[in-house]
Amino acid sequence: MKYDSDFLKRVLDSMMAAAGDACWLLDKAFGKTLDISSKGPRDIVTDADFAAEKAIFARLSADFPDIGRLAEESGGSIPEKGLFWIVDPLDGTTNFAHQYPVFCVSIALAEPAGNDAGFEPIVGVVATPLTGDVFHSIRGKGAFLNAKRLDVSDRKRPALPIVVSALHFRKEPELKECLDIIGKVLPKVQAVIRRSGSATLDICAVSQGIADCYWEFGIHAWDAAAGLLIVREAGGFAEFFPKNDKRRSLTLVGTQSFAKEVAEVLVSVDPRLKKHFPL
Ligand code: IPD
Repeated sequence: MKYDSDFLKRVLDSMMAAAGDACWLLDKAFGKTLDISSKGPRDIVTDADFAAEKAIFARLSADFPDIGRLAEESGGSIPEKGLFWIVDPLDGTTNFAHQYPVFCVSIALAEPAGNDAGFEPIVGVVATPLTGDVFHSIRGKGAFLNAKRLDVSDRKRPALPIVVSALHFRKEPELKECLDIIGKVLPKVQAVIRRSGSATLDICAVSQGIADCYWEFGIHAWDAAAGLLIVREAGGFAEFFPKNDKRRSLTLVGTQSFAKEVAEVLVSVDPRLKKHFPL
């Protein structure tokens, strides 16, 4: 659906302000004693995640009371119709809790869609509290880091790509699958795998052209939504395939050409993934 540009501008302003409120809280809480609880295997949450999410919705709901939500801490779902927010108040919670200074706030405005993801992001904002950087994008209007327009890498061989992936796993068989894929991708790349500890920032690294591809299994819509739009608007491939066929979700973003190479590797490890990729 097409939206009025004044409306989208007001949405972006509100999202920027909400991200700013959350960044301020996270910056203040960073390095302080936290209340940490476990949500499941290798999955923690802190009181700062809850406080940041509350601040974000205090702003967004005051400005746009009729828009629905899907958020990491307070839940929600993709509505049948109508706009909704997809919010991760603190992506990189484990980093944050260990005082490893790489984490961000991610907010997207999305609409339900009949694609694999089930939604389409329309506006995205990703902000990093400690550096003050802000990525943003409105569908069809490009992607920006602060005032700079973003373009995915145009690295061509023989300068080999840099790729980002996570060895994130919750069960042992998942680790084996991650290692198999990395083993097959490594010979194609500059022999380096980068990893920030924030899926959102890994995705944004592709939009900046500083990484050529990122994939990860098992992340959620709130980790990916804003970043997907930012990468697409920077000219890249960006898709999120939620859980199906009883396997974990998959996110793949990259330059159009290198994402295809990694897709081939993914399909060779799990042929069920073939239906997602036009190989
Ligand atoms: C996590 C981070 C991490 C990724 C995990 C996510 P959270 O999100 O994005 O990089 O590997 O899969 O769950 O819990 O910090 O919002």
